[in-house]
Amino acid sequence: MSMTLNPGMESVFSLEATQLKFGVGAAEELGWELNRMGLKRVTLVADPMLHQFGLIDRITAILTKSGVAFDLFQDIEVEPNLASLTRAAAFATTHPADGFVALGGGSTIDTAKVANLISTHGGEIIDYVNPPIGGGRKPPGILKPLIALPTTSGSGSEATTVAVLDIPELRVKTGISHRYMRPSLAIVDPDLARTSPGGVAASAGLDVICHAVESYISKPYNERPKSKSPDDRPPYQGSNPVADIWSLQAIEFGGKFLARAVADGNDTEARGTMMLGATMAGIGFGTAGVHIPHACAYPIAGLKHTYHAPGYSRNHAFVPHGFSVIVTSPASFRYTYDAAPEKHIRAASLLRGHEIENPSADSLPDALIDLMKQVGAPSGIEALGYTEADIPTLVEGALKQQRLLAGAPKPIDGAMLGEIMQQSMKNW
Ligand SMILES: [Fe+2]
Repeated sequence: MSMTLNPGMESVFSLEATQLKFGVGAAEELGWELNRMGLKRVTLVADPMLHQFGLIDRITAILTKSGVAFDLFQDIEVEPNLASLTRAAAFATTHPADGFVALGGGSTIDTAKVANLISTHGGEIIDYVNPPIGGGRKPPGILKPLIALPTTSGSGSEATTVAVLDIPELRVKTGISHRYMRPSLAIVDPDLARTSPGGVAASAGLDVICHAVESYISKPYNERPKSKSPDDRPPYQGSNPVADIWSLQAIEFGGKFLARAVADGNDTEARGTMMLGATMAGIGFGTAGVHIPHACAYPIAGLKHTYHAPGYSRNHAFVPHGFSVIVTSPASFRYTYDAAPEKHIRAASLLRGHEIENPSADSLPDALIDLMKQVGAPSGIEALGYTEADIPTLVEGALKQQRLLAGAPKPIDGAMLGEIMQQSMKNW
């Protein structure tokens, strides 16, 4: 890699990764980890859906056996919003603990991150939310230890600095993002993901693939203006040789195992590898960053709540995050192709599991579309309840995600986002 200093451009990147413990049976070591950290009382933030599978009882039994007291908070929204996060923060504040355990998918882990932030440092949630929607306040110091046990193979939240927040009044999704929000330890046990339905595994797995591909082709860290101080360096630094290793491995896992993981929850090899891939992609994108498909996903998930997702036994209509992301990924990567053709082709070849003959701008989009078809994803934005008349509003929503768009390998404006939305109405 080039070590040439570009005047005014960033010359430093860092890897700050969550500690990881992975494998079948890893969850049984939760008590040992809590004792090692010296935690006597924790707030257990858990998805109530997991009661039916006995997972919450299993974790509370481990806590009891290890002599760790706990308070259980399970008032989790599938799309956390200011009200639900405020309830979680109030609970954590009135039930003091010296650490947190999160058991669930991205929504649950994100809820625990915010409860930890507010109960540790006080203040209003909106003060910490990314500008322009929130005040962009930085946490004044480290948070309490948070151990995350993901039960889906998707968000990678166990490895990232971000908590996503839905603001239905503004029809927008935004978040809180700071390195102190990253969990201290991820315990990733494939046994915990066995129960999630195929539709959930499909959306979650497509999210993993987007995390990895977006990160791998994101604007290199040394093409971003130099930060004034280490404190100002964004969590999303851009692609770099270390993040690329994590992202590339996750892309390969997605190509090999996603379809199998969706077809059969008891295919432990496929589900387990997708879980590992989710965390590995989380480390990659937690360092490099996601951009165009994720920026488009926020308004696609936030604007209309009419889609009923297969496999989600929730009573309200919503677009699962992974589907909201994947639908614009073919058009996004068709647009970014000429910024780094060899990277796009490498990603396509890892997804396909073989070399690409006749490489072109369509190689990666076509590989993604084939995978979407295989796992039963919606064909585009139209299937999620939108028409072409919605494109201007969707573009307006995507343009609010400047923090993400800044990581795209090519500059992107409203007109080009409109073109991407247009191409993404139907991918086949
Ligand atoms: Fe995502």
